[in-house]
Amino acid sequence: MKRIQIINGPNLNLLGRREPGVYGSRSFEDYLQELRSRYPDVQLDYYQSNHEGDLIDCIHSCGFSADGIVLNAGAYTHTSVALHDALRAVSAPAVEVHISNVHQREEFRHHSMISAACRGVICGFGLDSYRLAIEALLA
Ligand code: DQA
Repeated sequence: MKRIQIINGPNLNLLGRREPGVYGSRSFEDYLQELRSRYPDVQLDYYQSNHEGDLIDCIHSCGFSADGIVLNAGAYTHTSVALHDALRAVSAPAVEVHISNVHQREEFRHHSMISAACRGVICGFGLDSYRLAIEALLA
């Protein structure tokens, strides 16, 4: 059975309540149930933290055993050299995901510190960005 680790960074625990005009009105836990029933043959593990070091620990602990990582690093996307280094340190391929199209938003969201350490980037498709990332990792 393939195992994919989904990791959500800061403020993404508030999905469904946080800026619904940008991020939608569905909680991630609700969406995750749909994802799990769509991929019954894939083990989809989920972790969320608002703390950069915890996200790094999660990448270390899954990064040599999972078949892939789907990472929405939230605002750390734009700032974190440490997350970039963690992704480079492990063997599992990662896909960077964003719910919103960061390139249509403020300029500070246009640059990602982690893209270069990822296999690819998917952004702007709402929560469906996660499914597209899973498809890419399974392909
Ligand atoms: C986000 C985009 C980031 O710029 C922002 O800081 C987030 C969410 C997205 O999924 O669209 O927290 O990663």
